[in-house]
Amino acid sequence: MSVIELEGVEQRFHARGTPDGYLTALKDATFTLHSDPPQIVSLVGQSGSGKSTIARNILGLQKPTAGLIKYDGKDIFKLSRAENDNYRRNVQPVFQDPYSIFNPFYRVDRVLWKAVKKFNLTRDRAKGLAMIEESLNAVSLDPANVLGRYPHQLSGGQRQRIMLARIHMLRPEFVIADEPVSMLDAQIRKTFLDILLDFRRDHGMTTLFITHDLSTVYYLGGDVMVINKGSIVERGAVTSVMHEPSHPYTRLLLDSIPPPDPDQRWTNRIEVDDSGDQTPATAPQEPVV
Ligand SMILES: Nc1ncnc2c1ncn2[C@@H]1O[C@H](COP(=O)(O)OP(=O)(O)O)[C@@H](O)[C@H]1O
Ligand SMILES: [Mg+2]
Repeated sequence: MSVIELEGVEQRFHARGTPDGYLTALKDATFTLHSDPPQIVSLVGQSGSGKSTIARNILGLQKPTAGLIKYDGKDIFKLSRAENDNYRRNVQPVFQDPYSIFNPFYRVDRVLWKAVKKFNLTRDRAKGLAMIEESLNAVSLDPANVLGRYPHQLSGGQRQRIMLARIHMLRPEFVIADEPVSMLDAQIRKTFLDILLDFRRDHGMTTLFITHDLSTVYYLGGDVMVINKGSIVERGAVTSVMHEPSHPYTRLLLDSIPPPDPDQRWTNRIEVDDSGDQTPATAPQEPVV
């Protein structure tokens, strides 16, 4: 059983036009994710509320300006080489736009072969191919249909499922998914979420699911954290938070949508904020593969 703990995590950025020259993107974020039993925890908030900052901090892409992120009790920014390799294997990202992660000049197979090599899954080419095919099947992609293709030859939903196939191969303890379905249409969105739910059930993976879409939160169930202007204002089971919100901001979010209706979820999608969720151009955009 593994635990990721955030303790008082703060992320400030230099910013012009603010009184002290700083912008505080994240304030005192304190929460834990555990792998046993596996969880689905949604992090919901509007654009600019600090969601991607949390993802980047947990993934070790950005060191917070204060506070600690611990994996099994150890500061993730002070791990030994071997511990860091173990963390990188067990905490895997999925981002909003997989297109930016694929190199347009290489076939999509490369992303999967790189995972085989980087994480030493096997040295045997036939076994590697068998693993790749098994993982593509696990995310309902036909290997014959996608292998050998270039990123632009696949749909957004297929590219995103290749990233899920990669995760299926690696079997991490934690998946940090930052708005992974924002650019997908309703039916493909549902397929994607169902795969994450399968991963929890079949492989014990815990997902931190970042979204600005409340209907997605309802669909996933599990726990939810609500973030507003860099502060996590509420955390609890989706059912209780949505039915009895204790924070005014959560109430405000909920007031803007009708009560959940399982049959209507995918036709009447409600956005917390329809301006989209753009990471500023200044933010580091680190390719993961
Ligand atoms: N590298 C950066 N430099 C300066 N400001 C940033 C940087 N990254 C994020 N921010 C700012 O921090 C705040 C939170 O951003 P972000 O975590 O991307 O929010 P979200 O993912 O919820 O939309 C925003 O005001 C954003 O403009
Ligand atoms: Mg974001």
